[in-house]
Amino acid sequence: MKNFTLNLIENKTAELIFDMQKEKVNKLSTQALSELDTFLDEIIESDLETIIIKSAKQGIFIAGADIKEIESMSDELSVKNMLNHGNEIFNKLSTLKQTTIALIEGACMGGGLELALSCDFRVAIDGSKTKLALPEVKLGVMPGLGGTQRLPKLVGLQNALGMILAGSVIDTRKADRIGLVDKVIPKGYEEFQIPEFLQSISTPSGKQKIVEKRKSKNFLEQIPFVRDYMYKKAHESLIQKTKGFYPAPLRALETIKKTWDLSIYDGLKIETEEFSKLALSEVSKNMINLFFISEATKSKKFDAVAKEIQSTAVIGGGVMGKGIIWLFSNAGKSVRVKLRKIEQMGDIIKSVKSIYTFLIKRKKTTSHDVDFKISSITYTDKYDGLQNVDLALEAVLEDEAVKNEVYANLEKNMKKDAIIATNTSSISINQLNNSLTCKENFVGLHFFNPVDRMPLVEIIPSKHTSQETLATVYKFMLSSGKTPVIVDDCAGFLVNRILIPYVNEALFIAGEGVNIETIDKALSNFGMPMGPIELVDTVGIDVGYKVLQILQNAYGQRMTPAPLIEPVYTKLQLLGKKSGSGFYMYKGKEKTINTQVNTYIQNQTLLSEDEIVKRCIYMMINEAARCLEEEIVKSSEELDLAMIMGTGFPPFRGGLLKYADSIGTKKIYEELENLQNSYGSRFEPAPLIKKLAVSNKKFY
Ligand code: NAI
Repeated sequence: MKNFTLNLIENKTAELIFDMQKEKVNKLSTQALSELDTFLDEIIESDLETIIIKSAKQGIFIAGADIKEIESMSDELSVKNMLNHGNEIFNKLSTLKQTTIALIEGACMGGGLELALSCDFRVAIDGSKTKLALPEVKLGVMPGLGGTQRLPKLVGLQNALGMILAGSVIDTRKADRIGLVDKVIPKGYEEFQIPEFLQSISTPSGKQKIVEKRKSKNFLEQIPFVRDYMYKKAHESLIQKTKGFYPAPLRALETIKKTWDLSIYDGLKIETEEFSKLALSEVSKNMINLFFISEATKSKKFDAVAKEIQSTAVIGGGVMGKGIIWLFSNAGKSVRVKLRKIEQMGDIIKSVKSIYTFLIKRKKTTSHDVDFKISSITYTDKYDGLQNVDLALEAVLEDEAVKNEVYANLEKNMKKDAIIATNTSSISINQLNNSLTCKENFVGLHFFNPVDRMPLVEIIPSKHTSQETLATVYKFMLSSGKTPVIVDDCAGFLVNRILIPYVNEALFIAGEGVNIETIDKALSNFGMPMGPIELVDTVGIDVGYKVLQILQNAYGQRMTPAPLIEPVYTKLQLLGKKSGSGFYMYKGKEKTINTQVNTYIQNQTLLSEDEIVKRCIYMMINEAARCLEEEIVKSSEELDLAMIMGTGFPPFRGGLLKYADSIGTKKIYEELENLQNSYGSRFEPAPLIKKLAVSNKKFY
């Protein structure tokens, strides 16, 4: 026995403590479950009356099932055996003659919550780390140890659908409100309130009170047509949100619907059946792989120890500055904002507040917390108040001379070892570096717009950036909730260098006379969050045109702008969404094709959806291969993560290069050669693709 201990705490009451050996968190591996089973057998034989299941880990009750085990399953029988084993144990737990209580402190996720649901009662210790969820759909599967059976019965259909279909995480307040936990105890009050709770449930009337409280919420859901209406609405909303690309929430919904009237045992059989199919699907394998890639970013190693960032500054309060000011304040840092004119302050306060208001509405933060965070932002139009700042982020306009002047002022007014970071999107970090004295403290931090919604930040060291600076900004970005990916200095850095040729190809296709809605629809149907032509309108045609020119200067012929963009920008002077007209005309939420653009389009042509997708996506794969070969990014995994977090490349496809692997490098190489013959040298296969194709290898 390694992972559990049973301690008698007083007369006929024992604590079963979960403390997984050699692991930071508790996971329900097959071995841990077997040990639990043995303890349950021992408990059955004992004269104990009450069992409290708790964790010895700080901040974690149980993190869930062992995902590595799920990932390793390659046939339905093994998945079913694993689930049947777990379900037998949870059924044993749920039918123990003893009263069972899950004492939840810290994260209680997936299988961990399913274990808690198999207990008679759930008590949560309040605190920011105590969170409850059934997040399985985020890994392309669904709850498989009774979650689809026990949760709806306990908290009602509507609440259960909310948690299971979105995999959303709830705090103790919500858990209490919906009846998922029977009591919330403030931290520090356990010593008094746990015995009080035990006392209250030891009497039949006390027990009955809790059961009544649970029942009272859900009486309307007992009416079949009310439930049918809820299923229908949930299905519609899922189709709208996922476009049907993610089977897991749909299968979970179907399971709940099919099993509502069944006994727990029959219901579990269906849950097991559905889980097994999902666990072996390509989508689930891709999502689990992404989970591990994303986890790996959290433990990246550096040759230096990261310093703590307490105090920050942001220079510039434009589109990006506002988002970054919010980000730094939200990370709990003090933020000194340097503006060109102090009058800009009102506009910034409004923007930052509106992001916080959105978060308050979604219950992601509280107004008390927000007041505190907003009070940590101070404003100036000089370079004063910077003496104690650990990191200053420059987000002024994209002009080298203006940026250099800012750096000179920062170096004059900040401490020697302070970090200066730039959010430049197109100027080389090694070039900007030239004007600085302390080159080792300078680094690129390229955020994506809008900062509060886009998780990625590209970290771009120059040749001189120290490991300490790199480790410090990496840690700071992680703790701010961003996904950092380190990329080498090159035009467009990583994500834009790969994304722009894709958008450009869509403009080539549009110029050939293919309807722009057809192009956008083809790529939306592939899973991109928005079609490429609408994306140009969203980013701004002026911005797109400029970036394309920068990339053409850097990479030459293969990045030649599509002929359509130049007249649309210079002759028609269309800017995109921000001016109400671009390739589309925008009126409120409506958008229609802008017929003005037709002047510069050849006669109408038809191109199949597959061909459109192939031309645009293969363009990205080809550039991604070049980036990998030039070591702009260290691995295919990091490249895929960056494209997903920075552009919304569909996660269910596993990432750009994972998708390429699913087609096969040989096929991609041959197709690129065909495209080169038809459309020109911009499709010339990258040397790495040729190499992989010839040796029959993959990116992963
Ligand atoms: P913006 O034009 O909205 O804002 C620039 C701000 O800098 C203006 O508010 C201006 O008043 C201020 N400024 C100029 N000189 C200043 C000085 N000496 N002191 C203080 N403030 C000064 O530009 P945006 O879009 O916010 O871009 C800022 C930087 O971020 C640029 O380097 C840009 O390339 C980069 N970037 C922009 C993205 C975008 O989507 N807009 C995405 C990623 C990076």
